[in-house]
Parts: sequence; C-alpha cells; structure tokens
Amino acid sequence: MRRKLAAGNWKMNGTQASLAELAAMQTAVTDAVDVLICPPATLVATAAAQSGDIAIGGQDCHANVSGAHTGDISADMLKDAGAGYVLTGHSERRTDHSESDADVAAKSKAVWDAGLIAVVCIGETLEERESGETLRVIGRQLAESIPDGASAANTVVAYEPVWAIGTGKVPTPELIAEVHDFMRAELTKRFGAEIANGTRLLYGGSVKASNAVEIFATSNVDGALVGGASLKAADFNPIIEAL
Ligand code: G3H
Repeated sequence: MRRKLAAGNWKMNGTQASLAELAAMQTAVTDAVDVLICPPATLVATAAAQSGDIAIGGQDCHANVSGAHTGDISADMLKDAGAGYVLTGHSERRTDHSESDADVAAKSKAVWDAGLIAVVCIGETLEERESGETLRVIGRQLAESIPDGASAANTVVAYEPVWAIGTGKVPTPELIAEVHDFMRAELTKRFGAEIANGTRLLYGGSVKASNAVEIFATSNVDGALVGGASLKAADFNPIIEAL
C-alpha cells in the first residue's frame, strides 16, 4: 500500500516569516498521509526544527559530498540541516541550470548515499507534447534520471508537464493516467513489480484545491508536487485534505 504524499515546493520564495504558514499546515496533517515542504535552502534547518509531522526537503543538491563548489549544497548538508527528501531534476533546474538526465541521476544517487529520499522530477515540454513525443521523453527521462538501485523507500517520481507548471493549465485525468500508467509499467520492467508497485508517483503542475480531488482519483497518482498553492496554508491544507 503506497502512502499518499502531498509535497510543496516553495521554489525561490519564503523568509523566516513564512514559517508561520508551515505551522498552520500542521493542522491538516493526519497519520494517514505524508506531507513534505521543500523551502529555500536558507529555511531548511529552521523549518525542520519546527515542522512537526511535516517532512522537510531540499530543492536541489550537488552530486558531490563536499568540495570546491561555491554556492552549492550537498545532500549530506541537507540531511544535517534536518531534511528527509531532496527534489532532483525539477524542470526549472533542467532549464535554468542546463541539468541533464545524467546530472539528475548523479544527484539522485548522492541523495540516496546521504540516506535521504529523492523526488525525481520529469516531464515533457509543450513542443514535445504537441509533436506526440510525450511517452518517449518520459521513458528516456525515467531511464536516465533514475540510477540503478532505486527502491520504493529511496525514490519518489514526480511527473510535471513543463507546460502545466505555473500556467493554470492541467492535463485531463486521461492524459495524466496515460503517463502515470506508463511510468508504473516502465518501472516494473526495470526494477520489478514489488519496487514499482511501492514507488509513489506524484503529479505536479497547477495543482489547486479545486482540482486536487479529481487528480488524486486518477489512476496511479499517489499525491502531488505543488508549487504556488503550497506557499499558504489556506491553499495547501485543502490539497492535503483531498489526499
Ligand atoms: O514543483 C512544483 C511544480 O513546479 C508545480 O508548480 O504548482 O506552481 O504549477 P505549480
């Protein structure tokens, strides 16, 4: 049985004052679901110290444990700050920082080596969707962004169509199901049924309280990776409650 997961990615938003929202989100958490917030790196340690049953995650990490990499943060450092998860391969990292599938795989491996859970993000662009390339792109990203050694305990996969992120556009449940069913099948082929059936698959891209119930009822959707609607408890709590 896969535990449902509501994950919030605050992206480059939030200061100490935002931790009041984290406190308000704790009221929506129950034993039946997992909740994760990935604040900016500056808030990870403080958030982790006061997040209660909400797990805290990093938004990115370097592939190395330490070294001369000014401005970067390792998975070990995030663990030391109290993180339990790290996002890898978010489309904004792939676009803004030219991260390749190989980079994402190396970072995911670093996350595992630190004893943390990697939330590996994949998704097609609008151009790829419109040219009928979606499943081919998803298959490639799954194969090349997730290293050998994935397990249900160390990996979550987030499907985020790039064209749905921050746009208010959401694929139909049929389109989400097509990709999520495909991802489950691809993971089964590579890692076997036990690992594939235990691995949580999140949908991300313009998830809101108003569409969460329908998205969570979709085949092979085990939760969501939420951006804008995770910044405020008033928006995120109904999403947690819809799980
Ligand atoms: O990581 C979260 C996603 O990029 C989704 O962002 O909910 O603002 O569309 P959004």
